[in-house]
Amino acid sequence: MSQAQATSDVPVATLPRWVPLLGGLLGSTACGLLLYAWSVFIAPFQAEFGWTRAEIALAFSICCFVFGLTTIPSGRLSDKIGPRKVVLMGSVLVLIGFCASGFINSKMGLYITYGLICGLGGGMMYLPPIATGPKWWPDRRSLATGFSVVGLGLGSFIMAPIATWMIENMGWRPVFWYMGIVMGVLGVLSAFCLQNPPAGWKPAGYTPPAPAPGTKAQVDYTHDEAKATPQFWMLYAAFFCSCFSGLMVVGHLAGAGIDRGLAPMAAAGAVSVLAFSNAAVRVVIGGFVDKIGVRPCFMLLWSIQVVMLLLIYPMAGNATLLWIVALIFGWNYGAQFTLFPSATLAYYGPTAQGSNYGLLFSSFGFAGLAGPTVGGWLYAVQGNYMIPFATASAVMAISLLLLWLAKPPAPRG
Ligand code: 2OP
Repeated sequence: MSQAQATSDVPVATLPRWVPLLGGLLGSTACGLLLYAWSVFIAPFQAEFGWTRAEIALAFSICCFVFGLTTIPSGRLSDKIGPRKVVLMGSVLVLIGFCASGFINSKMGLYITYGLICGLGGGMMYLPPIATGPKWWPDRRSLATGFSVVGLGLGSFIMAPIATWMIENMGWRPVFWYMGIVMGVLGVLSAFCLQNPPAGWKPAGYTPPAPAPGTKAQVDYTHDEAKATPQFWMLYAAFFCSCFSGLMVVGHLAGAGIDRGLAPMAAAGAVSVLAFSNAAVRVVIGGFVDKIGVRPCFMLLWSIQVVMLLLIYPMAGNATLLWIVALIFGWNYGAQFTLFPSATLAYYGPTAQGSNYGLLFSSFGFAGLAGPTVGGWLYAVQGNYMIPFATASAVMAISLLLLWLAKPPAPRG
């Protein structure tokens, strides 16, 4: 009997359970194409319109902000009406927004098409698979979460070379038209792979772990109950801090290398290394969390990251050292997008995961606005990356402290 089939007393699954994982992979790849190669458009926009870096970066910040805030309704809707319709709506918005960005002639046009419409669509595509995969994989919840976010790393890894090649050979506008269609198709395919399992379904042969002593049920909070615990808001603040520090550094790694005298190719190599480890960790760490729990992973990786952030600037002048630091930084940065949803699941259970993690993820929206902006101001103080990266390390240490303090709440029962 396959795992998707029913045992005598549980409902029949409507899908083989690897299908929602594929849905997560496809949808998250579309989000990775959308978000993480934005810097390739800076040079063509500057050449054609004469906009400053800050003006172009604002489109990305708006997109991250709207993306992050949209996960609140998209997670709630996914819990209420199922993931498919939400991801479908998101795919249509991304298709329209990204293709329309290929026609713009003004900054406002870019802010509306890429920032607002794509941000809305991206948030609607991103969250539902994270809420759905673990419901099909109660025995490997964090691994399933990893599959739902791995494409963010993969998409960024493939988009930069594809877009660079297209810009050189066709100009920047066709990148938006063709890649907008690719993202829309990936999103629609993802939507058709996503569906919640029937109530009461469990994989054949799976026995849920026994409830904690003195309680009747597994950990499964409602959204209102989860929001009422202090741990939820400690996780929120910790996620804000780790995204803030990560986003402050992620876009400046190559710049730091060049400032310290590296050739542009060597510095760009660090960005590819970062993209690779950012992708790989998302699935690998999910397997570890299923075995050893989420808190040890947080403590170990966050401690390493506090040190790495301090080392980036001193090491940025040597290509080999910068690549090593970029590998470890990218690993820890990408891990958070599996670890925080895994922590939400472990602390509050699967039923309201869409609403719970959707709300938690809105901290990414605020960090996406604040991290790069504060990084820019701090850079201006001394004209180098020493202070921004040291600040990122201090903020990461606050995240570590909050995670250490945020012990799991008592199970409901
Ligand atoms: C991620 O990388 C969207 O930045 C978020 O998963």
